[in-house]
Amino acid sequence: MVKVNEYYTRIGNNYLFSEVARRVREYKAAHPGERVISLGIGDVTREIAPVVIEAIQAATREMASPDTMRGYPPEAGYDFLVEAILEHDFLARGVRLSADEVFVSDGAKSDTGNIGDILGEDNRVAITDPAYPVYVDTNVMAGRRVELLPCLPGDGFFPPFPARPADVIYLCYPNNPTGTTLTREQLKTWVDYAIEHRSLILFDAAYEAFISEPDVPHSIYEVEGARQVAIEFRSFSKTAGFTGLRCAYTIVPKELMATTSTGETLSLNALWRRHQATKFNGTAYIIQRGAAAIYTLEGQRQIRAVIDYYMQNARIIKQGLERLGLTVYGGINAPYLWVKTPGDLTSWEFFDRLLTEARVVGTPGSGFGKAGEGFFRFTAFGKREETLEAIERVKDLF
Ligand code: MLT
Repeated sequence: MVKVNEYYTRIGNNYLFSEVARRVREYKAAHPGERVISLGIGDVTREIAPVVIEAIQAATREMASPDTMRGYPPEAGYDFLVEAILEHDFLARGVRLSADEVFVSDGAKSDTGNIGDILGEDNRVAITDPAYPVYVDTNVMAGRRVELLPCLPGDGFFPPFPARPADVIYLCYPNNPTGTTLTREQLKTWVDYAIEHRSLILFDAAYEAFISEPDVPHSIYEVEGARQVAIEFRSFSKTAGFTGLRCAYTIVPKELMATTSTGETLSLNALWRRHQATKFNGTAYIIQRGAAAIYTLEGQRQIRAVIDYYMQNARIIKQGLERLGLTVYGGINAPYLWVKTPGDLTSWEFFDRLLTEARVVGTPGSGFGKAGEGFFRFTAFGKREETLEAIERVKDLF
């Protein structure tokens, strides 16, 4: 008889965003004709930048000829994309990385979810609470014990250091879901912690393109010493609207080492390469051509205009809700607004009220962890008209 991985019984039946989608589907089925506005999952709504479309079309035409068609892509990405990443995302910020430290992939969700495959089961893992659910779920699936680090408004959502030294620490900045950030100085305290305790920081920087303030680092490698202790995840999903195209990358510096139970030291870069070579067959050529196009001057101009559009949505939501007397965090360096629910409504109660009385969907804060209870997340990735209308509907509700 087949045995299951019993750790799966320790996670809920539904992934957070699937559960939200299920409730919305049920509501819509029971109320046909009602128009529901979704500011729930952080999915993009603007059209893909013209430079990306043109690059994908040109690459698709290459596929139509035996002389220029491409088969399996290199597992860690084509040189043209890797070189563009190194130059624009890192060298331009004073960070020197080498090509064999970049691993192009199909998404930061897969990478943050799969990275645990190369880490031992007995690592002590610390994860901020609230957090992107993938971090906790994938560690529970792997049978690891997780210490949650409650990030609270009174501390500016700064994560407390673990009660017991952690081997692996997940940090996401700009933060999903709170929309808050760490300054360079604050991030340095975590890098110093990791150096002192020989821990590994898994740094999710999927939202770095939304940073507007100068003292907020875009990469953890802007902090001295981080190369020895951190893996960084980046994504084209939100930066350039690739949620449906799928492209991301992960940086694994060659200095990063981990030990076996017998004390042998192994390179995490080599292990991740081995992992990807075995479990991943590369990101499609045409998609990587599309991703590389964002690094041209025109590409930068086009994606910046879209990011500005979303951040204008963020201002609209923030100001609209603040006028109603609600307390709102985030929305300045991130496309997420983290709102204290009114009165003593729980996150799911607020979700239900918004859905049934205003026909507006957001994401319940408690879905991101216990410390998210009593909060609610709105995304700035909606269409402008719908964002404006959603705020009007919430106003009417009050
Ligand atoms: C979110 O809404 O948190 C994100 O869209 C989820 C994701 O990037 O997978």
